[in-house]
Amino acid sequence: MSYSHLVFEPAPDGIALLTVRRPEKLNALNRETIRELDDALRRAESDPSIRALILTGAGEKAFVAGADIAELAELDPVEARELTLRGQRVFRRLETMGKPSVAAINGYALGGGLELALCCTLRVAVPQARLGQPEVKLGIIPGYGGTQRLPRLVGRGRALELLLTGEAIDAAEAHRIGLVNHVVAPEELIEFCRGLLRKILANAPVALALVMDAVDAGLDAALDEGLRYEAAAFAVSAATQDRREGMRAFLEKRAPVFRGN
Ligand code: COA
Repeated sequence: MSYSHLVFEPAPDGIALLTVRRPEKLNALNRETIRELDDALRRAESDPSIRALILTGAGEKAFVAGADIAELAELDPVEARELTLRGQRVFRRLETMGKPSVAAINGYALGGGLELALCCTLRVAVPQARLGQPEVKLGIIPGYGGTQRLPRLVGRGRALELLLTGEAIDAAEAHRIGLVNHVVAPEELIEFCRGLLRKILANAPVALALVMDAVDAGLDAALDEGLRYEAAAFAVSAATQDRREGMRAFLEKRAPVFRGN
């Protein structure tokens, strides 16, 4: 399927590249782009040949410069609630689809752009990237999860500073506070993200999905509850063929061949 504001490129290695393409508006997320993102993420989730995703923005300036302010300016409160709930559902699909994703942050990641990156499993930025939640400068607050995911990732104090000042930080600072995992040169960005995902995908697929699920469930649970969840997921991993293969391969001093069962 072709999109107006997205380019969706599956690849033989199972790592699909999803590019938000509205460069004349710095890839700002309007309703249509969110709708297309929803469609692309559903495809990625249900297609077994797609094992991981890289998300990036078209052009050299922006990953995603936020939700589309021209659209936001026209919303009444009921429409605003619908827009935010819809976007939250789409973003949550990315976060919980059980397939690892990397945000390749090639420039501005502001507002909804940073919130989109926060839903990816990992984040890699170019040195000139700028990351922030400037919504309060516009008289609104983040609506695609920024007030919830940012403190979970970087801690309450750092998140509140970003959310309340609305000021953007550069990639070095984002790396220092754990908001991005790596900073790499623009010409290496996509290949670096592919390399990162290849390392992940070399591991047992069911185990990967269980780790992501246990972290997601556990972050919102009391420790004892999270530990019980981990024990149950551990038992599931112990029942897989890939567990047998992984351990046999280790004992036979060879590389494992995982089949995802
Ligand atoms: N929504 C809608 N349009 C946007 C946008 C957004 N979030 N971000 C940028 N654009 C548009 C600009 O209006 C401009 O369109 P025009 O050429 O038709 O006037 C175009 O993209 C280029 O942006 P411009 O502001 O001219 O680029 P810049 O290099 O001077 O500044 C930014 C870049 C990112 C600092 C600036 O565009 C900006 O502050 N954007 C809004 C960021 C934001 O508040 N996001 C959160 C939204 S909730």
